[in-house]
Amino acid sequence: MTTARPTAVIILAAGEGTRMKSVTPKVLHRIGGRSLLGHALVAARGADAESVVVVVRHDRDRVAAHATEVDATAIIADQDEIKGTGRAAECGLLALPVGVDGTVLITSGDTPLLTSETITALFAAHTASASAVTVLTARVPNPGGYGRILRADDGSVLGIVEHKDATDEQREVDEINSGIWAFDADVLRAALDQVGTDNSQGEKYLTDVLAIARDGGHPVGAHLIDDLWQTEGINDRVQLATLGRELNRRNNEKWMREGVTIVDPATTWIDADVTIGRDATILPNTQLLGATSIGAGARIGPDSTLTDTEVGEGAEVKRTEAHLARIGAQATVGPFSYLRPGTVLGVKGKIGGFVETKNAWIGDGAKVPHLTYAGDATIGEGANIGAGTIFANYDGVNKHHTTIGKHSFIGSDSVLVAPVDVADGAYVAAGSALTGDVEPGQIAVARGRQRNIDGWVARARAGSKTEAAAQAATQAGTRHTGSPDNPTDESQEQKA
Ligand code: UD1
Ligand code: CA
Repeated sequence: MTTARPTAVIILAAGEGTRMKSVTPKVLHRIGGRSLLGHALVAARGADAESVVVVVRHDRDRVAAHATEVDATAIIADQDEIKGTGRAAECGLLALPVGVDGTVLITSGDTPLLTSETITALFAAHTASASAVTVLTARVPNPGGYGRILRADDGSVLGIVEHKDATDEQREVDEINSGIWAFDADVLRAALDQVGTDNSQGEKYLTDVLAIARDGGHPVGAHLIDDLWQTEGINDRVQLATLGRELNRRNNEKWMREGVTIVDPATTWIDADVTIGRDATILPNTQLLGATSIGAGARIGPDSTLTDTEVGEGAEVKRTEAHLARIGAQATVGPFSYLRPGTVLGVKGKIGGFVETKNAWIGDGAKVPHLTYAGDATIGEGANIGAGTIFANYDGVNKHHTTIGKHSFIGSDSVLVAPVDVADGAYVAAGSALTGDVEPGQIAVARGRQRNIDGWVARARAGSKTEAAAQAATQAGTRHTGSPDNPTDESQEQKA
């Protein structure tokens, strides 16, 4: 019996993945900002099945919790101590209502480039051919490690042999089992009852179902696809990197086709959940990670890493690290700045070079142009924070807030000892160590007054070049000799 929708997609994710040599279960390793299992869940959900089941065992609680976090409606099925993909499929079936029929699709938690479209195409081919079993296959240049598809002279599929169990002749076969399947639920259940563990790994192989179903008189077939990457399973870290790069290449290509300029796709890394507006430009060595969104016409990079950061239209972000920050439209950031969580920069605002911000709300058109630390701060619109200003937010025990009002000016090299509040329209003199509030219209001067001591150089630095320079200027009745403001005869000749 076939229905318009698949009954279920069962994702096999119970294996340890020993070849990863990791304390992290294989399916929780990540590419493109998502776990391998996360990719499998997104693809499965997109195939519009009635249920999505994840079969778990190794590091069970961690994998199950992650699956539920990615997809709250996923059904978790526990595999028991019997090993193998066949047993995993059986345990997945047991998590569905008793006696469900229709088409059950099986995918692997370690095949992250598989798309919903391919699962749907497999389902369609399976339905159209009225098959009981359809396996997704590909012809690959290096089939080593994969199960091989065995075909009769007439091309019909006979069965699958695992690499470890294959003869030399069978290993010559370049058509491989992707581990992605469509089954008639009843046929699958009945065939699994007959699958044993008599093989080199002592496991219950799902692959055995195909020959059993065929021998039982059921139509079986293969759905061969050209896009090899979608069938590739990750077993070790080399494959993790290779598939990660390919996923990224596909993602970059998708954005370029959407109207984004990516100057150097090879050094641009864009996670699966990122969004980018038209006519944005991404410069080399840029990573856009997590749930980052980039507005239309923005210019990002080079050498920037933005994580869960929102960039407004037409903004410019150069050589910057940002995490959980919001950058307004037409704003500019960098080079060499560090935006930590809670940074909000208003429209046409500026965070310049060598600035660190954290939990800082910076209003429209406000500027923090050079060498500043702004932590736990509210900076009103149009305010200007002078070079080298430090928001001293931490007293060693608690964090305190600093507020700078609209259109106020903080002089360079000031330290604002929080909690402190500078009202709208106020000034703080350069070099101040501000410990008290400033009212509208005031200037606060919080530093030592300048004192000049006559004749100090002659007394304390007699015979030095400094003393000679002082004498020369005094004799010439000027403040500077031979400078651009007061050229000597010689330098005037050069100009002429
Ligand atoms: C499997 C196939 C092989 C195919 C390859 C494609 C079998 C017997 N072999 O081999 O024909 O070419 O995938 O990538 O099916 N899993 C469980 N429970 C288990 C064992 C595995 O859930 O007891 C899960 C794993 O977590 C993984 C998937 O099944 O997500 C595949 O397991 P893996 O051990 O990688 O199988 P392969 O040896 O690659
Ligand atoms: Ca595998």
